[in-house]
Amino acid sequence: MKRIRVAIAGVGNCASSLVQGLEYYKGRNLEASAGLMHPWIGDWKPSDIQVVAAFDIDRRKVGKPLEEAIFAKPNCTKVFQSAIPVSEVVVQMAPVLDGVAPHMADYPDDESFRPSDEEPVDIVQVLKDTKAEVLVCYMPVGSEAAVRHYAGACLEARVAMINCVPVFIASDPEWAEKFRAIGVPIVGDDIKSQIGATIVHRVLTRLFGDRGVPLDRTYQLNTGGNTDFLNMKAMDRLKSKKISKTESVQSQLDERLDSRNIHIGPSDYVPWQDDNKVAFIRMEGRGFGGVPLELELRLSVQDSPNSAGVVIDAIRCAKLGLARGIGGPLEAASAFYMKSPPKQMRDSLACELTNSFIQGSDTGEVVGEEASKVAISDQAHQPSLL
Ligand SMILES: NC(=O)c1ccc[n+]([C@@H]2O[C@H](COP(=O)([O-])OP(=O)(O)OC[C@H]3O[C@@H](n4cnc5c(N)ncnc54)[C@H](O)[C@@H]3O)[C@@H](O)[C@H]2O)c1
Repeated sequence: MKRIRVAIAGVGNCASSLVQGLEYYKGRNLEASAGLMHPWIGDWKPSDIQVVAAFDIDRRKVGKPLEEAIFAKPNCTKVFQSAIPVSEVVVQMAPVLDGVAPHMADYPDDESFRPSDEEPVDIVQVLKDTKAEVLVCYMPVGSEAAVRHYAGACLEARVAMINCVPVFIASDPEWAEKFRAIGVPIVGDDIKSQIGATIVHRVLTRLFGDRGVPLDRTYQLNTGGNTDFLNMKAMDRLKSKKISKTESVQSQLDERLDSRNIHIGPSDYVPWQDDNKVAFIRMEGRGFGGVPLELELRLSVQDSPNSAGVVIDAIRCAKLGLARGIGGPLEAASAFYMKSPPKQMRDSLACELTNSFIQGSDTGEVVGEEASKVAISDQAHQPSLL
């Protein structure tokens, strides 16, 4: 079976987990393998994904074979698959643009980015030369220009895009239309981890609604020690992440909470946590007779494998979209796999619609009767939250 040719932009912790996962699941009995949502999507199992190009800007990664670069500092994610076969993929220098926040220079080498002074390659040309079919965008939060650069390159090289970053591309009607116009799919925006703070908070929010308990106030505080958290110490880079995470929960409410009563965001950088992310969620509501109730929850995960378990599906859905000649956002897959899709819906419905997209021959667009079930809001970015 033909493999799926993938390019990776940003060889950080998430890319490391993804590449490790491709090898980890190779040759295993997939039906019995823990951690996969879909052992097969279409004709493809995880190990049918082949990385054919990788871009980064860090001098410890650029020029290195991919199988070395994924373990280079400042990456700090858990190594669950140390033996990675030799590939012919060498990490290539990308344009830095706004990928590196100035405050990174104030932190030790092992914790932060150190840009290389090599000349950047032409991303479009590399995508064409390597015959990449899908690009996974793993830019740091706040890299508005860099993400748009990769999105533009995907359009020019006619490569499908998985946008793991909260820079709004699939959920922006103008960008979505550009992908639709050239018949190339996109899944975005901002990856929603397998069992992460967002999905747990969303599902509990729906539970309150479905059980007749109005949610009066909630917060979600997150700490971690990877470069994603360090990068987000810069408040000016945080805006889109805060919108993406907050709207993802707001979208599950029958009535929006006043912005004063919902506080969600990355809260602090704790270096010794490395890639361990800890989320604290508090929800206050009123049950039968208006009697108050409170829920408090602590979730501890390894951040990057938690996202790779989702990207491994998104890539194969994008390939399915390419095979079926679908252009523009894959709406069901985006709703299931991403925090900020073009159409928000209940996660149970997103799961159902994604499964029927995978099993059937439909376009993954949410129309007709299904669209009326989408209920809750279409994506509406609320800058007033900040
Ligand atoms: N569970 C998760 O980990 C999770 C969940 C949702 C979203 N995300 C998002 O995914 C993205 C990637 O996360 P990560 O943990 O891998 O981050 P990371 O900091 O580990 O990796 C980012 C990589 O991008 C590189 N980079 C910076 N500028 C670049 C440029 N212009 N071109 C190419 N490479 C560049 C850096 O050198 C680094 O290797 C972040 O935006 C993060 O918020 C992650």
